[in-house]
Amino acid sequence: MKKRSLAVYSCTLALFLAFAAVGFGQKLEIVKLPQPQTDGGKPLMQALKARKSSRVFSNKKLSPQTLSNLLWAAFGVNRPDGKRTAPTAKNWQEIDIYVALEEGVYLYDAQTNTLQPVMAKDIRAAAGRQKFTQDAPVNLIFVADFDRMRGADKNSREFYSATDTGFISQNVYLFCASEGLATVVLGYVNRPALAELLNLKSTRYIILSQPVGYPGK
Ligand SMILES: Cc1cc2nc3c(=O)[nH]c(=O)nc-3n(C[C@H](O)[C@H](O)[C@H](O)COP(=O)(O)O)c2cc1C
Repeated sequence: MKKRSLAVYSCTLALFLAFAAVGFGQKLEIVKLPQPQTDGGKPLMQALKARKSSRVFSNKKLSPQTLSNLLWAAFGVNRPDGKRTAPTAKNWQEIDIYVALEEGVYLYDAQTNTLQPVMAKDIRAAAGRQKFTQDAPVNLIFVADFDRMRGADKNSREFYSATDTGFISQNVYLFCASEGLATVVLGYVNRPALAELLNLKSTRYIILSQPVGYPGK
């Protein structure tokens, strides 16, 4: 190959690789969340008074601190023995929270207060069947791991993973009410499609999702 055509070839290859890197998204890193702020917020009775479902979101992002506070309120560790802000039957702690952001999907690890990378892909549009999920900066996806529900038959696994998710979802509702954030829990989800996107094992089941963000107009 002549010198000039080699240079053109190398330049084209470099540009292609650069665009590919942008197109495919950067590899996600583990995110160490700020320590959650566990005081402050509205008094409980005022948060209950303000709790509601909202379906219009602005695309303003949540700060890392607010995201950390939200996840802690949802299902963080609140005692030295590793127990959580929401109860679970037999303390199975079988619900995982997938956190879908514009830059990709993470798994919330409550014990280390970190976000573990799942994929560098924006899947917010698939977090529910309603269009607003792609506007919300955060979509929480509650996934039950049936392998953790030792000794439970199919009915019990389905029943308790659904009830346990309800407590987490209500924690999210109350945090949002306290912080002036918008949220709505969603059962209207294309579970098979979302499970495939998230590459979930057959023993993992999507219960509900819940977009969170600032109220839109
Ligand atoms: C299990 C469950 C599933 C829900 N699924 C959806 C849904 O898919 N889409 C939606 O817009 N709202 C959904 N909602 C929200 C309800 O429509 C809402 O809670 C109800 O209308 C009462 O309004 P409020 O939450 O403001 O009191 C769901 C609520 C629950 C508890």
